[in-house]
Amino acid sequence: MALATAEITTSNDFGPAVGLSCRECGTRYPLGPSFACIECFGPLEVAYTWSGPDFDGAAPVTREQIAAGPANIWRYRALLPVPADVAAKPNLAPGWTKLVKADNLARELGLRSLHVKDDSGNPTHSFKDRVVAIALEAARTFGFHTLSCSSTGNLAGAVTAAAARAGLDACVFIPADLEEPKIVMASVYGGRLVGIEGTYDEVNRFCSELIGDPLGDRWGFVNVNLRPYYAEGSKTLAYEIAEQLGWRIPDQIVIPVASGSQLTKIDKGFKELIKLGLVEDKPYKIFAAQAEGCSPVSAAFKAGREVVQPVKPRTIAKSLAIGNPADGPYVLDIARRTAGAVEDVTDAEIVDAVRLLARTEGIFAETAGGVTVGVLKKLTEKGLLDPEAETVVLNTGDGLKTLDAVASGARPTAVIRPSLDAFRTAVVENS
Ligand SMILES: Cc1ncc(COP(=O)(O)O)c(C=O)c1O
Ligand SMILES: [Zn+2]
Repeated sequence: MALATAEITTSNDFGPAVGLSCRECGTRYPLGPSFACIECFGPLEVAYTWSGPDFDGAAPVTREQIAAGPANIWRYRALLPVPADVAAKPNLAPGWTKLVKADNLARELGLRSLHVKDDSGNPTHSFKDRVVAIALEAARTFGFHTLSCSSTGNLAGAVTAAAARAGLDACVFIPADLEEPKIVMASVYGGRLVGIEGTYDEVNRFCSELIGDPLGDRWGFVNVNLRPYYAEGSKTLAYEIAEQLGWRIPDQIVIPVASGSQLTKIDKGFKELIKLGLVEDKPYKIFAAQAEGCSPVSAAFKAGREVVQPVKPRTIAKSLAIGNPADGPYVLDIARRTAGAVEDVTDAEIVDAVRLLARTEGIFAETAGGVTVGVLKKLTEKGLLDPEAETVVLNTGDGLKTLDAVASGARPTAVIRPSLDAFRTAVVENS
C-alpha cells in the first residue's frame, strides 16, 4: 500500500538499496513508505544492488573495511538501506553486542561448541534497537515527525528512546497488560504510551487503521509502514555473529519467533554474506523457538502444514506473544529448507531455562531468551540438534524486564545479624 506522503526519494538516501520488491510475486517498487504489494498483498522487502541475478559478484565492502568501522551496527552501513553518513546523526548506535562462548552451558547440555549472542547489551536492552535504528533513518528521510509502533513491549522502549535521541515525537501502542518494567521503560523516555485493551494482534490492527487515517499523517510506524527498512536491522545479527566467529557462519542457530521477522532476516543476512563472498559458502540450519502458549508456527511445522493458523496467546513470554505472525510462513520455509526445525517450550520450561542460562553463564535473559535456551535444550534431548556442530543461541532481551517470571523462590540464602557467629550458624554450618 503506497502512501501519498513524501513518497519517493533518491536511492542515495538508502545507500546500496535500489528499491522494494514483493517477496511473493517479485513486483518492484521505488523506495517509499510502502509495505505491501499492490498486486498480491505480499510483504515488500528492500532490494539491493546485489539482489538480482545479474549481480557481478563484487562486494560493496571488504572484511577489512568493516573491521575498521565503529563498534556498532554502522560498521555494516554499506550493506544496509542507510546513507553513508548515518553514523554522524544522533541515534542510539546499537549493536556489536557480545558473542559469549558458553562452555559451561555446552557441557551441561552435551554440546561441543556453543555461543550465546547476547543482545541484552543493546541501549534499551533488547535486539529491537537494531531494527529501530534503521527505521529511524527511513522516517527522517521520508519527513515523518512522529515515530510509532505496535509492540509487545521491547519495541515500544526502543522507539521512545530512539525518538528522544533523534528529536522526533513518539507515540507507541502496547497491549495494556504488559510487564511493568517494559511499561516503565517505554514511558521514561518521553512521548506517548498508549495501552490498548486487547492482544498484540489487535494493537497491530489498530495501528494499520491509524496509518490510513488523517490522525496518523506523517507518522512512521516502524513495524508497519516502515517495516521493510525496520526488518533489515535484524540482518546485523547475522553479520555480527559471522564476523565474531572469524567470518564464519555457524552450523546451527536457535532464534526466537514472534512475527518471525528477525529469523527471516538473519537468514537473509547469512545468504548475503555468502553471495558477496564475505564468508565461505556452507550449509547452516535454522531452528525457530516459540512458547507453547503462543506456538502457531511450531504447530504448523509439527503437523506438516504450509498454513500458519492464528492462535490467542497465553504465555509468560509476552514479547513473543504474536498469535498471527506476519512472517510465519517464511519461518516454516526456512526451517524446512535449511533442515532445521520449529519447537516450543512450556512456561515452566522457560523459567527453568532462564535460571539455567543465569546459573551456567552469568547471563540473565528475559523470558524470550528462556524460550530459545529451553528450545535448545529440548532439541538437543530430542537429537534434532547435532551436538558436534558449532551452535549459536540468541538471547534477545534482558531478564530485568521480566523479573516476575523468576521472582518466586528468589530470596537471600539467609538474613542474619552482622556477626560472625550468626553467619557461621546460619550459612556455613547449614550448607
Ligand atoms: C525480546 C524479543 N525477542 C524476540 C522477538 C521476536 O521478534 P520477531 O517479531 O522479529 O519474530 C521479540 C519481538 O518483540 C522480542 O521482543
Ligand atoms: Zn506481490
